[in-house]
Amino acid sequence: MSERKATNITWHAGEISPETRAANMGQRGATLWFTGLSGSGKSTVAVALEQKLIELGRHAYRLDGDNVRHGLNANLGFSAEDRTENIRRVGEVSKLFTDAGMITITSFISPFRTGREAVRKLHEEAGLTFIEVFVDCPLEVVQQRDPKGLYQKAAAGEIKNMTGVGQDFESPEQPEVHLKTDEMSVEQSVEKLVAVLKEKGIVG
Ligand code: ADX
Repeated sequence: MSERKATNITWHAGEISPETRAANMGQRGATLWFTGLSGSGKSTVAVALEQKLIELGRHAYRLDGDNVRHGLNANLGFSAEDRTENIRRVGEVSKLFTDAGMITITSFISPFRTGREAVRKLHEEAGLTFIEVFVDCPLEVVQQRDPKGLYQKAAAGEIKNMTGVGQDFESPEQPEVHLKTDEMSVEQSVEKLVAVLKEKGIVG
């Protein structure tokens, strides 16, 4: 955890148990943490999964890297330090959403193993479900896809710290779900994720 600056603060517990909240929401929350290179399909699969879950009558919400960087994390860039703070904040936000009973789908590159593990621990210590989803696509393929033209800019030297080119991406070692998006369709990825949510009792 980053340094805590506030002093004289006291935790104030509520009266709603996890069981009461789950009954009220009609579901248990869970965080599906997508990690992978830019252009690997995180946002695309997240959008399709959110749509599918809503169709199934579940409450779901996406937290997307590019979107969150327009607001909450607008003051962060792409240095290793800023990326770490980006993931720390989003980890805390996803924990709150999931504690509130939402199926929370986060799509952030989240390149560093230690950052992802810290978010996992944050959830597990609070008794919340955390599902790491490796959205896996080879660098050569995302460079070809290059939907935002960023790899081309990186090749031209205009972006120095592009993940996979100028900065590391540390692949997950034991993700709960592994999606190979160069081999699977978006629908197949969504099916696999819904199956995992069923196995875990999050989707009935
Ligand atoms: S993270 O590394 O801190 O998790 P995040 O997912 O929030 O990254 O943001 C990644 C998005 O920012 C990419 O999808 C891309 O659109 C944009 N971006 C801009 N500069 C970079 C860069 N240097 N490396 C990676 N993505 C970048």
